[in-house]
Amino acid sequence: MKKLLLTGAALLLSWAGSASAADKVDFDKQIRPIFSASCYKCHAGSKHKGDFKLDSLEAIKKGGKDAKDKVIVAGDPGKSDLFRRVSLPKDDDEVMPPDGKGERLKPEQVELVKAWITEGASFGDWKEDKVVATPDDKSPGDKAAGESEGPKEIPLPQVAAADAGALDKLRQAGAQVLPLAQGTNLLSVEFTSNAAQIADHQVEMVASIAPQIYDLNLANTKVTDGGLKALEGMKNLHRLHLEKTAITDGGLPHLKGLASLEYLNLYNTAVTDAGLAQLEGLKGLKNLYLWQSKVTDAGAEGLKKSLPTLSIDTGWKEPAKP
Ligand code: HEC
Repeated sequence: MKKLLLTGAALLLSWAGSASAADKVDFDKQIRPIFSASCYKCHAGSKHKGDFKLDSLEAIKKGGKDAKDKVIVAGDPGKSDLFRRVSLPKDDDEVMPPDGKGERLKPEQVELVKAWITEGASFGDWKEDKVVATPDDKSPGDKAAGESEGPKEIPLPQVAAADAGALDKLRQAGAQVLPLAQGTNLLSVEFTSNAAQIADHQVEMVASIAPQIYDLNLANTKVTDGGLKALEGMKNLHRLHLEKTAITDGGLPHLKGLASLEYLNLYNTAVTDAGLAQLEGLKGLKNLYLWQSKVTDAGAEGLKKSLPTLSIDTGWKEPAKP
């Protein structure tokens, strides 16, 4: 496990290094997705841990209960409580997300936040996100009153350890494989450090560890519709990144059986309303990202009829012309 972790971290760091030379950090494309994935469950919608919300400009400016600590000081990450908290050691009392309550931001994400603040913490045109709270656990034996604000703690499925040989091959093919958490055999697999070199034949190799995969990140890769067939057996797959790929409606039928899927990112793909209709059976789906896809508002509304608790993010559009 430890070895896996180190290998992954080294790869991620080298990637962060090459990315930092790029243009100014874009809040909407690079920072907002981090907040929404790692922070919104406690700091958005009806959740306001520490009296602090991150889902609107106004709320961020207002800050939280420690009003003396400015959440963000444009130009100065060192004075920004938000940056301090995401860069604290894992076991620090004040680290965000709190230890054991969420995955720590990855090194390259922390670097992005830092660069964004250093460059002046511009929010661009962003004003707020509409966040639909995930319905509280309806399981029997309801939580004690007052606890309902807490993040939903879902027990992780138990799986056998992945085959070591299969993991080696996958890593040689360019995957970063990390344990999802301590004490579980579930894995997080991503191809972010060399996405442009990844095509269907590498993606197909993930099928060899299908039961162990909990997170899969194929963003920016050359995966095609056919490559998604390899995902069909992933019964524990909870989060899938397909943004900025050549995926079209033709690939979505392969996702139909992913019963555990909670998060699906189709940002900047050619998916249309017709493809979206293929997702109607994914009853566990909570977050769907569709900015810059070909899905219309009507298409998104259509899917919400089948999946009323789904939160769909279609981005910010120009107001309709009369
Ligand atoms: C599991 C719930 C949870 C998650 C996830 C989480 N936080 Fe928090 N956050 C809290 C709690 C609880 C507090 C108040 C306790 C404290 O001050 O440590 C808090 C406080 C804060 C504060 C201080 C607000 C103030 O001024 O008092 C900031 C800033 C913050 N969080 C940022 C973040 C960021 C950024 C993320 C995502 C990277 C995040 N949090 C993720 C639970 C969470």
